[in-house]
Amino acid sequence: MIQATVAVDREQAIGKVDRRLFGSFVEHLGRCVYGGIYAPGGPLSDAHGFREDVAALIRDLGVTVVRYPGGNFVSGYRWEDGVGLRDVRPSRLNLAWHQTDQNTFGLHEFIDWTRKIGVEPMLAVNLGTRGIAEALDMLEYSNHPSGTTLSDLRVANGAADPFGVRMWCLGNEPDGPWQLGHKTALEYGRLAAETARGMRQFDEKLELVVNGSTAPWLPSSVDWDRIVLDETVEFADYVAVHIYVEEVERDIQTFLASGVELDREIERAIAEADAAAARRGTERKLAVSVDEWGIWRGRDPNPPTPEDWPVERRIGESIYTAGDAVVTGALIISLLNHADRVTCACQSLLVNAGAPIRAEADGVWRQSIYYPFQLAARYSKGTALRASIAAPEIDTRKYGRVGAIDVAATLDEEKGELVLFLVNRNASEAAQTTIRLGSWPDARLADSLVVGGGDPWEMSTREQPDRVVPHRNDETSIDGGLIDVTLPAASWSVIRLAVDAGR
Ligand code: AHR
Repeated sequence: MIQATVAVDREQAIGKVDRRLFGSFVEHLGRCVYGGIYAPGGPLSDAHGFREDVAALIRDLGVTVVRYPGGNFVSGYRWEDGVGLRDVRPSRLNLAWHQTDQNTFGLHEFIDWTRKIGVEPMLAVNLGTRGIAEALDMLEYSNHPSGTTLSDLRVANGAADPFGVRMWCLGNEPDGPWQLGHKTALEYGRLAAETARGMRQFDEKLELVVNGSTAPWLPSSVDWDRIVLDETVEFADYVAVHIYVEEVERDIQTFLASGVELDREIERAIAEADAAAARRGTERKLAVSVDEWGIWRGRDPNPPTPEDWPVERRIGESIYTAGDAVVTGALIISLLNHADRVTCACQSLLVNAGAPIRAEADGVWRQSIYYPFQLAARYSKGTALRASIAAPEIDTRKYGRVGAIDVAATLDEEKGELVLFLVNRNASEAAQTTIRLGSWPDARLADSLVVGGGDPWEMSTREQPDRVVPHRNDETSIDGGLIDVTLPAASWSVIRLAVDAGR
């Protein structure tokens, strides 16, 4: 057993927790849309074809904003294909994912679906095979009230009210050679800047997201952010970070420390954005949108033959483990600890592909990674506080020596609730942890839950969906503002405390 100490005080505020931190992502990929959120005519769908059972789980998960329609898919997408009478919409190849898209789910269906679920829509424009004109058309179609050809077409297509979409992504991962319309940093930076400039002429209050470097292993990552941000820092509001982690060669110790990678990516993006702002002589401080994050075991067990272009195809339908749940929670800790600059984040993806929710034709079930997201979305409200942590280090193959414990804390001033999120990323030893709540000597323990802490490769399945679920940690006590808790090896915990918010 290792020993750790943590201190949390109200003076150490990081920033407000933006509700958009609990976003997710829906892409025309695999069975995320077709067979996932949308299955017209199915017994579990409503009159519009939206899966009721999937919708109920998404609401329960606590998702706040959903990014759409991609991802790689958007870089070849013609948004016009997905509006108008469904029977006559064109059928197209989805080159990104080797599927056929009959376009029965498009812009109107997406907006209607977000309203049904109660989430904010966030759209991406195609800056791969298309450009400024098509992005501006999509914006006018979506957000202009009426009186122009495009906005009147939306009205004629059944949406009298504008969609009112605030957040727009300027393309997707243009630095990736896998992307249709892959670009150099300067090509993308110029295009993104001019698209943003046009979009602002329509509405200067839009919130625009420019793509930062997709991955540190891309050769272009050396100067991608510098070049792109020099072009766009005056026009964008967010720089996007994407991160996918996975356990490689059963190296659970490195995998458990994946939060370090997200910390580094966020801090790199902030540093690049601030440096570009300084070079351009602007006071602008871009926020960070971690608009794709998750655990992706990319190997495709059923790659299609070149001739096969199915509508629905199983891509990324991993079964997630207890270790995956712990890492999901650890990534959320990283997001919360950067709440001053990270104000939007989208777990990827929402249903079936790399997802917390699995939908089959006859029902749905929750994967292990569902629970840390749900608990954090439900309880991390108000202000994120910086915890100071003293814990032994662990050795990891990929990240070197890192602290065994990581912690995020949030104070919900309205409710009078302090919530601690803790990960013990030590794969083999529990951590006897003392937490000093300097500002709250009278804090009362409301709940202490733990995810993981047993076999990190244990999985829930459709037949046994409750094998990896949160359980109460009885080894938690509090006395005079001092918490004593044992964090099992490879575990993620939530401790909720009733506090006097004024002290
Ligand atoms: O989430 C799957 C894919 O991963 C997305 O389409 C792309 O943006 C990323 O590379």
